[in-house]
Amino acid sequence: MIGRAEAARILEAAEARRLGDPLRSVRLTDPQQAFLQDGRRKLLWRGGNSIGKTFAHVLHILHFARGTHPWQATPRGPKQLMLAGYSFAQMDPLCRALWAIIPKDEIDPKVTYVPRQGFRGYKEPVIPFIRGPGAGSVIAFATYKQGAGRIMGDQLHYFGMDEPPPEGVWGEAQPRLNRHSGQARVTMTPTPDSPPLGYMRKLVEDGKLTEMQTSLTVEAVTRRGGLIDSPWMSADDIEVALSSYLDDELPMRRDGAWDALVSGRWLSAVTDAILIDEIPDSGWYVAVGVDHGAKAGRQYASLVLASADGEQVIVADEAHADGVTTTREDAQALLAMLQRNGIPYHQVDHWRGDRRHAGDFWGNEKTNRELAREICDELGIRQRDAVERGLRIRTPRKYQGSVRFGFRLINSLAKAGRLQVHRRCEGFRTGALGWVGRPEDPLKDPLDAARYAIEALHDAQVIHARRVEAA
Ligand SMILES: Nc1ncnc2c1ncn2[C@@H]1O[C@H](COP(=O)(O)OP(=O)(O)OP(=O)(O)O)[C@@H](O)[C@H]1O
Ligand SMILES: [Mg+2]
Repeated sequence: MIGRAEAARILEAAEARRLGDPLRSVRLTDPQQAFLQDGRRKLLWRGGNSIGKTFAHVLHILHFARGTHPWQATPRGPKQLMLAGYSFAQMDPLCRALWAIIPKDEIDPKVTYVPRQGFRGYKEPVIPFIRGPGAGSVIAFATYKQGAGRIMGDQLHYFGMDEPPPEGVWGEAQPRLNRHSGQARVTMTPTPDSPPLGYMRKLVEDGKLTEMQTSLTVEAVTRRGGLIDSPWMSADDIEVALSSYLDDELPMRRDGAWDALVSGRWLSAVTDAILIDEIPDSGWYVAVGVDHGAKAGRQYASLVLASADGEQVIVADEAHADGVTTTREDAQALLAMLQRNGIPYHQVDHWRGDRRHAGDFWGNEKTNRELAREICDELGIRQRDAVERGLRIRTPRKYQGSVRFGFRLINSLAKAGRLQVHRRCEGFRTGALGWVGRPEDPLKDPLDAARYAIEALHDAQVIHARRVEAA
């Protein structure tokens, strides 16, 4: 039996849906409801991934800007709001969600949303409300890097962050909230790449910042208030999503934990059980990855194969010398690696080599261009012909979190039984069994070479990522 008030609410929601007002027709999870009801001035919602933090934050912002908040009092009249994040690309989930439900007839028609780039129409990214209950209010956007200038311009009624803010950003925002007793809200999942968050933790401990914490569970993603409670992830979905993360970041991804675990090796799913002695005959995609190094023993090339359906990936071979090598020697070692696997250079589908290595005191700079030239010299072919036959060594894409993304991909493949390693890849094996995440560790070199090749196969959609990664 549902009560009368509840029935009225359901009817009201159905009516709102019919009228197409997404701001009123949504059904919320318990934590989302708590987030929207909490009227305290400074609030942090720290939680696992995909629990609906951004969605709830956007609802809150729109109600705040329009003065239509169903659960808390907001300042009267036109309001200045600011939302900030690392970059517009990283703020995109927030911008997209905002654009999806913002009442378009209430905002300046000049404003348009450009995926991954934010809002266009004005010199600065802003959304002015020109009609309706929020007329006169403005939502402005800034990146953390723009810092003081942009973020600090005006006195604000609201400052919202959907990603962990650096201490400076948080600190500089506070005085701007004073005059209007403005709200500051953060919704976030800390990650190992987040800026240091000790300051924020201390604010929470000192009672200066209210905190909500929510773990990713079926309960937490269940919408209430309909005839049937409906979770947007099942227990299986959650398990699959969480299994793609590296061990050390799991508590952050699941619980929004402040810190990564000091957990030891990254490629925890790589064990000797995935070593093989023979490579089955089959049609393979071929990728070569190169990690340049000037110091003795730090140059690695890796040969990676992927089955035609993208299901199996084999780290098949590696080229490496113990001493200092010239680029000519690197080219020779790389070609020898291909040759012992019966692969002519033009059958390599993807080439990836690290960015230029500046070399050491003695020079010995390493670049992809130089390596390609030496390969051609060694083969006695013209470079132009080689390029036509696919010999273009591209640099890996680097972005915040790209290293972790690549290792997560490798570990997920191993976990799913989709990765095998030929026994002769001593560098990869030793690296995987020993590397605990230090960026400068030589154990990482052979792993990087293989990672570049595997990322190339992933970027080319040979390896289907959906099954090995989530969120
Ligand atoms: N109450 C709701 N009703 C309908 N869909 C929702 C609701 N809450 C969240 N969603 C949807 O669920 C998905 C996850 O929500 P959201 O992106 O807000 O989570 P998040 O916690 O911010 O995730 P992330 O950790 O990736 O930032 C999104 O597709 C969002 O549109
Ligand atoms: Mg989010």
